[in-house]
Amino acid sequence: MLVSARSFEEYRAMFALTDRDLAGRRVLDCPGGAASFVAEAGRRGIDAVAVDRQYAHHRGELGLLVERETAFKRELLVQETAGYPSSWYADVDDLIRQWTANARDFRADIAARPDRYVAGSLPELPFADDSFDLVLSSHLIFSYGNRLDEEFHRAALLDLARVARREVRLFPLVVYDTGVRYPGLERLREELAGLGIPSRVQRVAYEFQPGDDEMLVLSCADHRAPARPVRRAVAVDDRVRWRHREGVPSGS
Ligand SMILES: C[S@@+](CC[C@H](N)C(=O)[O-])C[C@H]1O[C@@H](n2cnc3c(N)ncnc32)[C@H](O)[C@@H]1O
Repeated sequence: MLVSARSFEEYRAMFALTDRDLAGRRVLDCPGGAASFVAEAGRRGIDAVAVDRQYAHHRGELGLLVERETAFKRELLVQETAGYPSSWYADVDDLIRQWTANARDFRADIAARPDRYVAGSLPELPFADDSFDLVLSSHLIFSYGNRLDEEFHRAALLDLARVARREVRLFPLVVYDTGVRYPGLERLREELAGLGIPSRVQRVAYEFQPGDDEMLVLSCADHRAPARPVRRAVAVDDRVRWRHREGVPSGS
C-alpha cells in the first residue's frame, strides 16, 4: 500500500467541497497519510484532524519517507499511469513534485500541531460517536478493494458513519489497478440504507485515473450507531512497503 500526499485543493476537487461545506465544521481526514489537507485547513481556520494507522509507526519521519518513496518509485508510477492521464497532474514528474511539496507541508504541520494527527485504524477509530461534522476518506476504501475484503469495507463504512454527525464523503469508487467500480458497492449501499444511512453517488470535477470521477456521500444525520460490536477479526492487507529502504528496483 502506498502512503500518498494530496493537497487541500485536491481534496476540495475530489470531494466537491465548497466554502460552506467547511466553514465552522469539524472535519476528519481518514486516512490522512502525508496529505497536507489538515495543514492548509488549519491556516484557513478550519477545525480539521487527520487519523492514519501509519501515525503510530512513523510520525515526524512520515513526510520524509513519502518524499523519498515517491521519487524512488518514479519508474513504477510511469508504468502504472501510462495511458492514464489525470485531471490533476500533468505527468508523473508533476505528481512527484506536488506530493513532495505536500509531504513537506504535512511534516511541518505534524511537528507544529501534533495533536491534529491521531494514530488510529479503521474499522475502530479512536473517536467518540458524532465527533465530526464531516468525514473525508480518500484512496483507501474501495480503492484498495483488491486487498481489503468486503467485511473490512462494511465495518469501515459503519465506523466512519459512527464518528460523523452529518456526512461521510469517499473517493474514489474504483479499484485502483482494475479501473472498475468496487464490485460490492451497491450491496454495501443497500445494507447501509437499511441501517438508516442513505447514500448518493455524485460526479466530481476530478479524476485520478480515467473514469474515477465519482464520490460516495453517506448521510449520517439520522443514524444512531448501536453500541460497538465485539471486536471481530477483519482480514486486511494494509501493509505499507517502503521500497526505497528495501533497496528493491523501483520498477518491481
Ligand atoms: C493512498 S494513502 C491515502 C492518503 C490520503 N488520503 C491521500 O489521498 O493522499 C492510504 C493511507 O491509508 C492508510 N491506512 C491503511 N489502512 C488503514 C486503516 N485500516 N486505518 C487507517 N488508515 C489506514 C495508510 O497508512 C495510508 O497512509
